[in-house]
Amino acid sequence: MDRKPFIAGNWKMNTNSAGAAELSAALVERIGAVAAVDVAVCPPFVHLAVVGELLRPSKIALGAQDVFYENDGAFTGEISAAMLVDVGCRYVICGHSERRHVIGETDELVNRKLLKCLTEGLLPILCVGELLSERQAGETRDVVSRQVRLGLEGLSGADAGKVTIAYEPVWAIGTGAVATVDQAQEVHKMIRALLAELYDTPTAEGVRIQYGGSVKPGNAAELLACKDIDGCLVGGASLKADDFAAIVQAGM
Ligand code: 13P
Repeated sequence: MDRKPFIAGNWKMNTNSAGAAELSAALVERIGAVAAVDVAVCPPFVHLAVVGELLRPSKIALGAQDVFYENDGAFTGEISAAMLVDVGCRYVICGHSERRHVIGETDELVNRKLLKCLTEGLLPILCVGELLSERQAGETRDVVSRQVRLGLEGLSGADAGKVTIAYEPVWAIGTGAVATVDQAQEVHKMIRALLAELYDTPTAEGVRIQYGGSVKPGNAAELLACKDIDGCLVGGASLKADDFAAIVQAGM
């Protein structure tokens, strides 16, 4: 099955308002008309509205880096799915490894976020990936399977089909230590087989699985050439318009 490549930029906790606007304008100029690849950027919450305005004339979609699962009320510091819809978001990163390992998010919390996104019409990007110690202990398959299984718990096949899964080995994030294409493809294939087991083959064949972890213009093409790698979730390189544009072009 042909899956349209999907390249997303995760700006993490970077950019001030001037920098976010400058980066957005540069991306619209370079890759704003790209239609062969789905492209999204996920700025910090405080820049969503401004970036969303700048992206409006382009095909680049807006995404958020996180969401809370309640509708509204006394949840100081949190942001609801409806608020994200209101500022024009289409995608939401759920369960990024930095939220799992720095903030302490559990699989159960991540699952609640996914369910909320889907009821509000937002498309979740479910991040999964093992720590270096887990890979060295031979636990990659167990860890990633658990994160996928629990992350998708309670989702219908139709809803699972709306989710993008991002495989981001934690040891490859921000380290320059990109997984080899064989290491990445092996885990992507395993995730797709698990989706077929949890749902069915057409659902598994339809879900896009991104790779994330030190993706750069120089390694994007070989990663994207793998059978089960359908896109990239890009951190550091998404902060440089030329680099992110080159990665998007590698997906065309
Ligand atoms: P880097 O591309 O900086 O390694 O970050 C990857 C990532 O965590 C994207 O979500």
